[in-house]
Amino acid sequence: MSAKLRDRGDADRDVERAAKLLERRGAGRPSLAVVLGSGLSSFGEDLEDAVVVPYADVPGMPAPAVSGHAGSVVAGRLGGRQALVFSGRVHHYENRMPAEVTFAVRLVARLGVPVLVVTNAAGGLDPGFEVGDLMLIRDQISMISGPRRLTAALAGGTFRMGEAYSERLQALARVAAAERGIRLREGVYLGSLGPTYETPAEIGLARTVGASAVGMSTVPEVQMATARGLEVLGISLITNVPLPGRFHETTHKEVLAAGREGGRRLLSLVSGVAEKL
Ligand code: HPA
Repeated sequence: MSAKLRDRGDADRDVERAAKLLERRGAGRPSLAVVLGSGLSSFGEDLEDAVVVPYADVPGMPAPAVSGHAGSVVAGRLGGRQALVFSGRVHHYENRMPAEVTFAVRLVARLGVPVLVVTNAAGGLDPGFEVGDLMLIRDQISMISGPRRLTAALAGGTFRMGEAYSERLQALARVAAAERGIRLREGVYLGSLGPTYETPAEIGLARTVGASAVGMSTVPEVQMATARGLEVLGISLITNVPLPGRFHETTHKEVLAAGREGGRRLLSLVSGVAEKL
């Protein structure tokens, strides 16, 4: 994909071709799409009647380079609904441009999927959080700035950030979690540009501005989703808790290990929500 892409028309040409490919491969008419975060890629394996399409086969689909991101689209049944799972994403810290970071979201919108579930691995900033907790994202703070900012031209519409994360879907997630005995934390997700994990001073800043979790993804995807009219549910898997007294250098390895363990509960929660759609 060209780095010169500036507006929706150019960028969405690839999306159109990608959508046609997925339709030909039998993606069906999904009720929901799920974007998986670091270490969560095994999730896609649990779909029923799964059709797996490698990202390499999908025109324009940027391939993840970071370990823990599988790089395939899986179409199948989840909680009795047809779902489309994107196993692997690309990030701004990989030097990816907004058109690439938002590619899957634009594809989901083009396919007419009404509900987008975004998941991620995140550092927990609430002293009550433990590694392995799932956090329902109530809202987000963007600390992604600079030339990689998403533009309204690419979004092709007005960003609607007043209810970026659907209250209706949050309510469904609370009920599904209670029914399945899953402890569900809640809070605000702060998206940083990365590539570094945060310094103690940055952790202090993030807590001061009201964040309960910090990660390096999700924010631009959700911005795009609001412009394209998708209803969004966001779930963070807390993979580390970098708080004073509990601080140690976070490693990608520990983030992946927590992802493997938490993935099953995440799958259960999302299928519970799918059942209720
Ligand atoms: N910071 C940023 N991104 C992350 C973290 C973190 O502590 N954990 C997992 N992804």
